[in-house]
Amino acid sequence: MWPLAGVPTQVGLGPQFAPVGRRRGALGYDVAVVGRALVLFLLTIASCGGKQASYPRDAAPSALQPAAEAADLAMDVLQKRLAARLGEAVAAGGPATAVGVCHAEALAITRAVADEHAIELGRTSHRLRNADNAPRAWLRPFVQQAEGQPPTGEHVVDLGDRVGVVRPLFILGPCLQCHGPEVKPEVAAAISRDYPNDRATGFAEGELRGFMWAEAPKRR
Ligand code: HEC
Repeated sequence: MWPLAGVPTQVGLGPQFAPVGRRRGALGYDVAVVGRALVLFLLTIASCGGKQASYPRDAAPSALQPAAEAADLAMDVLQKRLAARLGEAVAAGGPATAVGVCHAEALAITRAVADEHAIELGRTSHRLRNADNAPRAWLRPFVQQAEGQPPTGEHVVDLGDRVGVVRPLFILGPCLQCHGPEVKPEVAAAISRDYPNDRATGFAEGELRGFMWAEAPKRR
């Protein structure tokens, strides 16, 4: 955090302007007031959780669409690949074994799909299992709203040279084995072995579990 108190001096509104009282710029605006407003504005857009242009997926401006489509495609692939691997692991060894498979492979699968699509990809949540999935700054407003909120759809965020897309993920029946209120003791043991700081059990079916996200460059 930057000390707000020091800001006016840094932008040259210090004692040198004091003797003549209020100084007015060419357009007659009070320089000190405008300067402070500008600094506050810059602080707001620079700070995490500051205003960022965000649109429901269907309402995203057409300039953001090509990148948003690339992001959607990569997320579809990731979602399918994770589900397939998870299903395979549960079928082969049951959910407790599958926790170990997820621990070993989920992030590697995510990175592989990201590389294939030349895009950045991930998953995050307001109740994390793996701390490596902590939200990037642009995702924090979504994550902060997630707790106790009714679900909203996919959103597109203008990130300057990139476009961010964030997709909510909901708890379905099979997810309950590892994220539900009553996980079996052997599953709970596997979770606390691999994720001692886990916060991702106790979800009900239909509840928002977290998000998949992607960042795609604007010019492709
Ligand atoms: C076999 C157990 C298992 C099942 C079933 C399961 N998960 Fe998970 N889930 C995990 C594990 C383990 C992780 C941590 C993966 C990692 O290390 O990145 C995880 C992580 C996540 C994350 C990433 C955020 C975080 O907290 O780290 C999301 C989102 C998620 N799961 C959603 C779901 C959804 C939605 C379903 C059902 C469609 C589901 N999971 C089914 C075990 C499971």
